[in-house]
Amino acid sequence: MSETFYVTTPIYYVNDRPHIGHAYTTIACDVLARYRRACGQDVHFLTGTDEHGQKMAESAQAKGITPRQLADENSAQFRSLWEHLNIRYDDFIRTSEPRHETRVQAYVARLVERGDIYAGHYEGWYDVGQEEFVSEMEAKAQEYKSAVNKKPLVRYQEPSYFFRMSAYRQRLLDHIAAHPDFIQPEARRNEVVSKVTAELRDLSISRQTLTWGVQMPNDPTHTIYVWIDALFNYCTAVAAGEKEAVSRFWPADVHMIGKDILWFHAVIWPCVLMALDVPLPRKVFAHGWWTSEGEKMSKTLGNFVDPWEMTRKYGVDRFRYFVLREVPFGVDGDFSESQVVSRCNAELANNVGNLLSRTVNMITRYFDGAIPAPAAGGPGEAAVRAEADALAGRLAEAMDALQFHKAVEASLLLATATNKYIDDTAPFKLAKSDAPADRERLGTILYTCAEATRLVALALAPFMPATIERVWCQLPYTPAAGETLPRQLAWGKLSPGAKVTKGDVLFPRLEPLEEAR
Ligand code: MSP
Repeated sequence: MSETFYVTTPIYYVNDRPHIGHAYTTIACDVLARYRRACGQDVHFLTGTDEHGQKMAESAQAKGITPRQLADENSAQFRSLWEHLNIRYDDFIRTSEPRHETRVQAYVARLVERGDIYAGHYEGWYDVGQEEFVSEMEAKAQEYKSAVNKKPLVRYQEPSYFFRMSAYRQRLLDHIAAHPDFIQPEARRNEVVSKVTAELRDLSISRQTLTWGVQMPNDPTHTIYVWIDALFNYCTAVAAGEKEAVSRFWPADVHMIGKDILWFHAVIWPCVLMALDVPLPRKVFAHGWWTSEGEKMSKTLGNFVDPWEMTRKYGVDRFRYFVLREVPFGVDGDFSESQVVSRCNAELANNVGNLLSRTVNMITRYFDGAIPAPAAGGPGEAAVRAEADALAGRLAEAMDALQFHKAVEASLLLATATNKYIDDTAPFKLAKSDAPADRERLGTILYTCAEATRLVALALAPFMPATIERVWCQLPYTPAAGETLPRQLAWGKLSPGAKVTKGDVLFPRLEPLEEAR
């Protein structure tokens, strides 16, 4: 495992309020960052806001304020949502910051010096919502409307500087072929490969009719295309000095993005980096999109899932849990509140929470709160141990593949096996006997339950950090200083004799939706 780990979210447009799509990527990155930190890596987790471009200029104008005012207001909204969602990022970059703008100019100046930028004339279609050029063929196929927000495409005709992207076509294809993990999931990689194989054109990278952005270093009458400006954030945020392209965190280990912005990250960005002789990120992972109660989310329908509202109803940790648990990362999914309720009740209240409260209650009742010492176990214990021993490996495999739902499943399997073990061994019956053999057996069972609960909690901690903190108020466990998660997940770290403390229910049951309404 490398010493450092650098993970990024897309930087979000600040023309609007954050919704579930933004929260989703950011939560995924936070869970990954927390997991990697727990594994002992020096993590750098970057997020931020993308503040330039046509869309921002238009939104500000419509509101009668300056783009900077709009950016200040909305960038702050993203920050406060991240604080609310318990997102522990290391840096938050805004593209309107001088540290970003000066470095973008330095990178672009280098591209100019290297002869990768030339003056030309752009004529064609533009999707303002996506800040994306659209080819004649695509425009026609989309009936000259945005594929995403269905607004009419805009026709541009103006002088522009171009990036010689076509020159990097073969190198990009070779890189993708040699690094099967570079673009994930695989189906997305195949899409990119076939599109690039068919054609890779030079890219218009400046505008004369827009001033809200970074100026071209060689020609201040031109503003750098917002996507070129934005992509550079991944480097400008970690650059060691003004001239320094990279720091010890580069190359990024993973750029986490949504499927709609894959072309920018898997094609344009690597070509720019190749032109600058900067190593490419190790992985670009495109996740799927959410619908809301079966419908596409749109401004017209006004049905964007609002993270503030959902966390008010269900709590921050249930929301964090649900979005990563419900849908395999990479696939589209539907956000349905009845599904939030049933999943959280079945998996968190009835399984994980129930395991903790049964365990703590029984140790309190039968051993005065002191964790009993275990004796040699039998087949019942072996079944729990098998799940427990598999946990660290399953967790690592799932997290390496960014399959968050599988990481959760690994913990749930252990919780389920342990709850079943309690049902099968019926410690409450054994507790009625004073016979020394039965006491010893009871001690073994409850120690096994406490250990299994500790492991379940550890594995779920990156997903629900605040709730799992509360587990440690009930179960007496503090990891040894500097001990990494895989070691903490070894069996037998709870000390017999240490005291449990009864506490509040971890996950109160949610009212089924119909009754709640
Ligand atoms: N500013 C660009 C990114 C620049 S990165 C150098 C941008 N911003 S955005 O605010 O429009 O979108 C950010 C992310 O939200 C994208 O990854 C996009 O896929 C994601 N989502 C937008 N709607 C979504 C859903 N309905 N579901 C899941 N994610 C969605 O693009």
